[in-house]
Formats: sequence, structure tokens, C-alpha cells
Amino acid sequence: MSAFERYFADPEFVARYVEQGPPAFMPGHAGVLQMVGVLLAETTPVDGVVLVVGAGGGLDTRALAQMEAGWRFVGVDPSAKMLDLARSVLGEAASGRVQLIEGTVSDAPEGPFDAATLILVLGMIPDDGSKLTLLREIRRRLRPGAPFVLVDRCDDREGTDFRRNIDRYAAYARASGVAPETVAGAYESQKANPGLVTAARNEALLAEAGFAGLEPFYRGMEWRGWVAYASA
Ligand SMILES: C[S@@+](CC[C@H](N)C(=O)[O-])C[C@H]1O[C@@H](n2cnc3c(N)ncnc32)[C@H](O)[C@@H]1O
Repeated sequence: MSAFERYFADPEFVARYVEQGPPAFMPGHAGVLQMVGVLLAETTPVDGVVLVVGAGGGLDTRALAQMEAGWRFVGVDPSAKMLDLARSVLGEAASGRVQLIEGTVSDAPEGPFDAATLILVLGMIPDDGSKLTLLREIRRRLRPGAPFVLVDRCDDREGTDFRRNIDRYAAYARASGVAPETVAGAYESQKANPGLVTAARNEALLAEAGFAGLEPFYRGMEWRGWVAYASA
């Protein structure tokens, strides 16, 4: 089990996730989710079906469901505990429009879906063919031209700024009020993260997986967001 898998199976980590998870680590997290909704809505039908890969926690699905009352969602996530949290975060209002599946994208229906998201997941997946397979499995489930949003933390482990960047990552979380022991654990996991790649590498993977029209829409320190479209 990787360090990240241990986190998402740990009831204490999951209980703190909404307060001390992505909103406390990624600058402008709520604004990013709002941008994701705006970008997807440009080309997604009002009754579209959105594939949310890594839907545990429910924050991204909740934000999108609140923005677009006609969208329906299929969310997949391998962590049962994170899916339980998603059910509670989504509440009764949204949960009628959301199907949650325990598993990876390979366990998702074939679609075709009208849009897809992969938010704060790809950075935990090793770049040994697994990242490319995940992106291809998403692409395969999208109708041609459908929008896809990727949000991820990127860096160059060999770069001269690596240490500075990871210190800033931790300092931002501390400034958000995250408990010191949580920050320390996250710092070590990120420092050793085998899935960490550069933004250029993610862009190359997106192209190789069959996405076109790639456009960066967000950067907060080393956190990045792209919108791209399933190639015809
Ligand atoms: C940092 S959370 C992000 C959750 C959500 N997208 C958000 O932004 O709040 C990462 C999630 O990815 C899930 N995950 C890990 N490996 C995955 C995979 N191969 N496919 C889909 N989800 C995965 C974890 O279980 C966890 O729930």
C-alpha cells in the first residue's frame, strides 16, 4: 500500500479531509472548482453526464452539482472510506444525481460521457505506464470533443527549486491552519512521491492519451489545472 493509499484508508485522515485536505493545501481550491464548472459548462449539455475519477471526498462533485442542476454524475474511487465521506458531503439533495462506484476508472461504465474530471489524483499514480493508462481509459469513455479537466501538483524532482517548492507547499498548509503533524506527514509523502512529474510531462501524457485543445487555466504555486478535449 502506498503512503497515499494509507491516508485514504485512515478514518482519522478522512474525518479531517474536508477542513484540512485540498481546501487547506491548494491555493484557491473553491475558486478552482468553480472554474472547472464554468469550463465544463461551455460544451457540456445541460442534462449531461459527467465522469468524476477520484470522486472520494465529494468536494468536486458537490461543487459541480451545485452549479449545474441538470447534470448527473458517475464517480469512481477505490477508497470505500472516501466514498462514504462523499456520500455525506453530497447530502440528499445531490446524491440522487450521483452514482458512486468503488473502484478505478476501469470499473466505470463505458459511457460515452459528456465530460470528465481528474482532480488531485494523477499525481499519486506512478509514471510507469499507469498514468497513461488512466488517461486513456478516461478518453475512451468520452464522446469526441467532450471536455476533460485535470488538476494536479507538478514539479521537477531534479530541479533547483524542488526543495523551495515543497517548503512552500508545507508553509501554505500551515498558514491554512493544518495541524503540524498532518503537514509533516504530507510534506514527507510529497517529497518522496513517486508519481510527481513536471507540468510538461502531464501535457505530453494528455496528448498521447488522445486529448487535444489543451489549455492551462490555473496555477497556484506548483498546483496546475488544464482543460482539454477528447480528440475525434
Ligand atoms: C486528494 S483526493 C481527491 C478527491 C477529490 N477529487 C477532490 O478533489 O476532493 C484523491 C482521491 O483519489 C483516489 N484515488 C487514488 N487512486 C485512484 C485511482 N487509481 N483512480 C481513481 N481514484 C483514485 C483516492 O482514494 C482519493 O479519494
